[in-house]
Amino acid sequence: MTEHLTSESPFRTSLLEEADGEGSNPTANPTMGEIISTRFSRRGFLKGSLAVSAIASTVGPLALLRADEAKAGSGSAFSFTEVEAGVDPHHHVAEGYDADILLRWGDALFPDSPAFDPTRQSAEAQHRQFGYNNDYVGFIPLGNSAEHGLLVVNHEYTNEHLMFPGIVTIAEGKLKVAPADQKRVDIEMAAHGGTIVEIRKVDGKWQVVKDGKLNRRITSTTDMVLTGPAAGHERVKTSADPTGTRVIGTLNNCAGGVTPWGTYIMAEENFHGYFSGKLPDGHKEAANYKRYGVPEGAYEWGRFYDRFDLAKEPNEPNRFGWIVEVDVNDPNSVPKKRTALGRTKHEGAESIVAKDGRVVFYLGDDERFDYVYKFVTAGKFNPNDRAANMDLLDQGTLYVAKFAADGTFAWLPLIHGEGPLTVANGFNSQADVLIETRRAGDLVGATKMDRPEDIQPNGVNGKVYVMLTNNSRRKADQTDAANPRAANAFGHIIEITEADGDFAATTGEWEVLLKCGDPSVAAVGASFSTDTTKNGWFGMPDNCAVDAAGRLWVATDGNNPKDTGRTDGLWAVDVAGEARATSKLFFRVPVGAELCGPLFTPDDKAAFVAVQHPGDGGTDWAPFGRPSYYEDLSTRWPDFNDDMPVRPAVVVITKKDGGKIGV
Ligand code: FEO
Ligand code: CA
Ligand code: CA
Ligand code: CA
Repeated sequence: MTEHLTSESPFRTSLLEEADGEGSNPTANPTMGEIISTRFSRRGFLKGSLAVSAIASTVGPLALLRADEAKAGSGSAFSFTEVEAGVDPHHHVAEGYDADILLRWGDALFPDSPAFDPTRQSAEAQHRQFGYNNDYVGFIPLGNSAEHGLLVVNHEYTNEHLMFPGIVTIAEGKLKVAPADQKRVDIEMAAHGGTIVEIRKVDGKWQVVKDGKLNRRITSTTDMVLTGPAAGHERVKTSADPTGTRVIGTLNNCAGGVTPWGTYIMAEENFHGYFSGKLPDGHKEAANYKRYGVPEGAYEWGRFYDRFDLAKEPNEPNRFGWIVEVDVNDPNSVPKKRTALGRTKHEGAESIVAKDGRVVFYLGDDERFDYVYKFVTAGKFNPNDRAANMDLLDQGTLYVAKFAADGTFAWLPLIHGEGPLTVANGFNSQADVLIETRRAGDLVGATKMDRPEDIQPNGVNGKVYVMLTNNSRRKADQTDAANPRAANAFGHIIEITEADGDFAATTGEWEVLLKCGDPSVAAVGASFSTDTTKNGWFGMPDNCAVDAAGRLWVATDGNNPKDTGRTDGLWAVDVAGEARATSKLFFRVPVGAELCGPLFTPDDKAAFVAVQHPGDGGTDWAPFGRPSYYEDLSTRWPDFNDDMPVRPAVVVITKKDGGKIGV
């Protein structure tokens, strides 16, 4: 969601990702902006960022006048003709490529799935169909094939005003969404979660295998278990689950990951939006919930299910905000909420095997002023014994990042009894540290970031890329003249180098890869290279991918007609040599959407991208000029059929000549 669209949106579930909840970080820990300011004012400490910094200081409006004629600079790792940035109801991909719809909301996943009928929706049908708002996309090869595997896709949330006919009315000039009934809530719950579906390439085209034996829907009603240090703790027990180990469902699964042992990770992000009701007066969880913005109440599930009502089940929110691991090899496996990885508004969990065989997971907590984390397993990955890896996520060390002005950083361990994580501070065990991960990060002095989204380790160049999407609330007195990005509307990307190239290291160095936004507007302070054209710059980095060649691709969330004159999309970003910080637009989404995924097959011959919440917005786009909802949509992508609403969908991009993407 963009800041502008959401601030004008009458739809609460659209607002959730940007909601001004109570979750804001209350500490005085330094912000990333303050640290960047300090760094860039101390030029003597600049290392690899010198080139980026020098470019930033020379890019002004005059330099950019010729930008649209610029060719990709020498040394670029990418070779394709750039798409023109803009806004319209369609998607666009670079010339010479096909962008085909693979899976839409409502598409059949099983031989017995009912055909999608938007006017006769039911929870039963939705449980057998592709869910709503596809976000994370992962690929788990079958038989080591790059052309046959399981596609795993998260369904982050639902947009009721786009999904259901007849629920939006206009009263006194304002749009209103009718209160939910139980049938609608049950459909919403079935449209959340994830999809596991077999896909294969036949005659050059990817297709869904509807009778795939491992096909599965996971939803907000799937039985799950809690594992790790917080499982069974008093604070996760409810009247329905006195063991504190059995949870119903998963919520707001944003990005995720695929582990080296081939399991599917679903990150629980904005779980606060599903809880309503009032905590009993003086309840011991009050401060904990305030730090996470619980309850937010965007969804009405608490009116029909006690577990979402704080007055009835005050501990239930402690059972969400975790990393969920799914064994895709058994369609009846019980997903596991791995508490050792902490409880935050988890964006995702991408991983890599460290030199010594331990496995490292990078974790962003997507809220303004919240933190970057990583988890290092205690045990080592065994590439020859899948079963031996299946509980690696229950033991290990969770760290939070502290970035220093001299270009170094430290991963601070969150271990009960160490530093301030003591009984005196209300942490009686590691379970308490994990249930209140954010407060643990506050106390150890972690760096307050501009909304950490995806964090991607790159096994080819040994770096790690951190997407920081924006932070409209950073105040001017938290920056200085050297980094005039108060109200950081466009975000930035940080490149991390772990010490000795060891992903399990506890220290390392960092650089700003680029500061986003329109580089032709000097006041924005963007730092794309001068080879970046008027189409090539972007704001609001969110998801990202590293392809098999080690190249970085960035997907965005928040570019819109009003802020940037462009929709979201997929940009190819050079990170090496003279082309560093050069960006080119490869694919763009229809009006109102953000782009999720992205994901490359192991042979780099297909890219899967998830077009999320298409049509959610129209006011800012002049040709439409009004809010968009089921009966009056700014786009009917991807079907463009008057009988069909707009539908979130996964798109597969292939090169017409069958070659590798972007080469
Ligand atoms: Fe669901 Fe942080 O995006
Ligand atoms: Ca999203
Ligand atoms: Ca995201
Ligand atoms: Ca986002």
